[in-house]
Amino acid sequence: MVNSIYDEVGGFMAVRKLISAFYDNVLDNEELAVLFQNVNMERLIDHQTKFFAMLLGGPVSYTDEELKRVHARLGISNHQFDLTKDCLIEAMEDFDFSEDYADTIAEAFEEKRNLIVQSN
Ligand code: HEM
Repeated sequence: MVNSIYDEVGGFMAVRKLISAFYDNVLDNEELAVLFQNVNMERLIDHQTKFFAMLLGGPVSYTDEELKRVHARLGISNHQFDLTKDCLIEAMEDFDFSEDYADTIAEAFEEKRNLIVQSN
């Protein structure tokens, strides 16, 4: 069987580190940090780690419906989504992810835009 990207990049721990770096970038950005003011980051990182593990072909999944539901009341804009994507790309660059993997992950993130964004 062909290894998934998830295995190739080092499994759960590697993905967890990436997500942690990603959130450091997000919290450094004022326009994004406001969204996370009252959120338990540890729990969120744990959820996001599982989600990204899923994107990369690892275990665990969230349905589109669940993603839409948890973000519905947050009023996330397209601009904030773009900034978040930049934070992710930056984190992958810092971890020297291969360009192919980084592109695949950024595309998978982009595919969820309509479930996450509420306004312009
Ligand atoms: C592919 C894109 C995204 C995925 C897969 C994703 C995934 C998730 C998941 C699974 C949760 C639920 C955590 C829980 O059950 O408590 C969550 C919550 C949250 N997400 Fe996202 N998210 C995405 C994009 C974004 C973006 C772009 C933002 C902000 C710019 C954002 C902000 C938040 C916030 C603030 C919460 C916490 C809600 C709360 O518990 O009060 N997410 N996200």
